[in-house]
Amino acid sequence: MTTGLIAALDTTNPEQAMAWAREVAPHCGIIKLGLEFFLANGAAGVGLIDQRPVFLDLKLHDIPNTVAGAVRAVLPIRPAMLTLHAAGGAAMIRAARDAAEAAGEARPLLLAVTVLTSLDAEALHATGVAGGPRQQVMRLARLALDAGADGLVCSAHEVAMLRSAIGPGPVLVVPGIRPPGTDAGDQARVMTPAEAAAAGADWVVVGRPITTAASPAMAAEAISAELAA
Ligand code: C5P
Repeated sequence: MTTGLIAALDTTNPEQAMAWAREVAPHCGIIKLGLEFFLANGAAGVGLIDQRPVFLDLKLHDIPNTVAGAVRAVLPIRPAMLTLHAAGGAAMIRAARDAAEAAGEARPLLLAVTVLTSLDAEALHATGVAGGPRQQVMRLARLALDAGADGLVCSAHEVAMLRSAIGPGPVLVVPGIRPPGTDAGDQARVMTPAEAAAAGADWVVVGRPITTAASPAMAAEAISAELAA
């Protein structure tokens, strides 16, 4: 399967998001809207982006009953993908999956976030986790998939380890992607689209290399061509 492109449109401005969406839609499979867009614009704002299926990156993390309610609340938006924190535990993920089933075939894929890529070994240790980040990623990945998650959001540097451990079934979505020659910004450990594809990513998430490009359309087209090569 060819690795697909998810364009991350990180802004609170709905006009800006609509303009970017129009430009990149022909070159990407899914458009990702995050917490900042959702909190600023709500479900009505998400409804403005109708060129491609939407990945709602809300990273839900609460007690099972509350997360199930949050999943039910966003089902009318019909997101293709929705994120939640694996650290919320198996019961929370199961509750999210049960709630999502109400949408039948149109239900969102539930993607679990394991360890935030912003946490290094020391920061993770400070939260009370004894093992290193890779060990914790594996532990939470298995927990999430066993509890009903459809896939994982993982860093480019974990994708090969996860793919060989969990097999071809679960969906692996990989941010921290930088096309050759572009600025890494605040992403510490990056990979090119082709490298992430070779490591086993189903989808790569690309934000600023597209949204800050002189032509977002041309940037998205180039990444999509790199993925198809
Ligand atoms: O601009 P950039 O390509 O770095 O954007 C990456 C996108 O992926 C952002 O929307 C960011 O919130 C998201 N993301 C990430 N790392 C994670 C999970 C999500 O960069 N571990």
